[in-house]
Amino acid sequence: MSAPTPDTGDRGRMERVVNLAKRRGLVFQSSEIYGGLASCWDYGPIGVELKRNVKDAWWRDMVWSRGDIVGLDCSILMHPRVWEASGHIAGFTDPMIDCRRCKQRFRADHIGQLECPQEKGRHPGECAGELTEARQFNLMFKTFMGPVEDSANVVFMRPETAQGMFVNFENVLETQRRKLPFGIAQVGKSFRNEITPGNFLFRTREFEQMEMEYFVRPGDEAKWYQYWKQERFDWYVRLGIKPENLRLREHATDELAHYARGCADVEYKFPFGWSELEGIASRTDFDLRQHADASGKDLSYFDDETRERFKPFVIEPAAGADRATLAFLVDAFDEDEVEGETRVVLRLHPRLAPVKVAVFPLLRKAGQPEKAQEIFATLRPHMVAQYDQAGSIGRRYRRQDEIGTPFGVTIDHTTMEDGTVTLRDRDATTQERIHQSDLRAELMRRIWD
Ligand code: GLY
Repeated sequence: MSAPTPDTGDRGRMERVVNLAKRRGLVFQSSEIYGGLASCWDYGPIGVELKRNVKDAWWRDMVWSRGDIVGLDCSILMHPRVWEASGHIAGFTDPMIDCRRCKQRFRADHIGQLECPQEKGRHPGECAGELTEARQFNLMFKTFMGPVEDSANVVFMRPETAQGMFVNFENVLETQRRKLPFGIAQVGKSFRNEITPGNFLFRTREFEQMEMEYFVRPGDEAKWYQYWKQERFDWYVRLGIKPENLRLREHATDELAHYARGCADVEYKFPFGWSELEGIASRTDFDLRQHADASGKDLSYFDDETRERFKPFVIEPAAGADRATLAFLVDAFDEDEVEGETRVVLRLHPRLAPVKVAVFPLLRKAGQPEKAQEIFATLRPHMVAQYDQAGSIGRRYRRQDEIGTPFGVTIDHTTMEDGTVTLRDRDATTQERIHQSDLRAELMRRIWD
């Protein structure tokens, strides 16, 4: 993963997003009552829905909507030989530099973007501290399997979900009767002992990945590499990210991971600079070959038509679920003027919005709360809905705008007469009347179509 490109970015905007995230229950600092644990975050009741929706959108678009990709959910702890064969024990390292004065450790390739912790405004090494030579530091977290803490029992927390797909290649091929090209997808937690985590959800040591390994015939990899770069870029746009805040950046040869022959990042223009959301890598047959050699298993594919046997090449779109969640959040954050007041609004795509609809009785009398509860109960099994009768209707709309709820349904005196409700659109702030019997289908259409 590459370092953010410094930018003139709007850090005030980032602070406002972080404050909103805390204030409205999207993201809390982990273990906050004990002073917090650096770079670890907990998704709150609203944030967990947002992140789930990001992962569900990925799964729906990458697995359900296509005929050529199947899913897996592998264990986090894998046989240590997996990481020898994959090259992670030898090669999954970052160059690291220590300061002899302040005892802090810095990533050598980030020094130009870091600040000395003791002398503000200076980079490490420009201060009075003396830096060591760069040393390679393995990013994998180690632990022990079973009660005995010795080297025979060392296991690693997976640093990528990808290896689960490679070691199950034969299982999937045999049980699912797949023909090339086909993909295997997985969403799950990975762990990297990053030297310089930071920027809120962006770089954390525990994070969630959405990865897919797409197996193709050798010789077809250039075509599929182009296809997946475009497809993955377009996915973010389809879900509402402004295209001007996205770019595709091809890696220079010296940036490539040990397994990649080519790699491009989908980058987002965060307030702290252009940074990677997702890498699309051309991994060749590196992983299947390594695991075949190390395990003694064949791990090849037999083409019935050409009667050839070979190891497929792999194109891998690997996205960060937390990074994507942060990008959707930052991109959706807006402030505008409504009824003479500044409102904060998250203009999230309805598919991603944590709460899809809020139901309000206009008045707390005349049978309106009971009617609103009745309508609320019909929606709840189908979508995340909230009921709110506290405060002025304007204030209730503002509370929902802040968490990105795309639709508001108000029950008023006309509802009691003819069964119609008002349906309010978060972005346009306009309202229309719709019969309560059409409401659920109309909301489903506006969210999913
Ligand atoms: N599997 C690629 C990555 O974790 O970045």
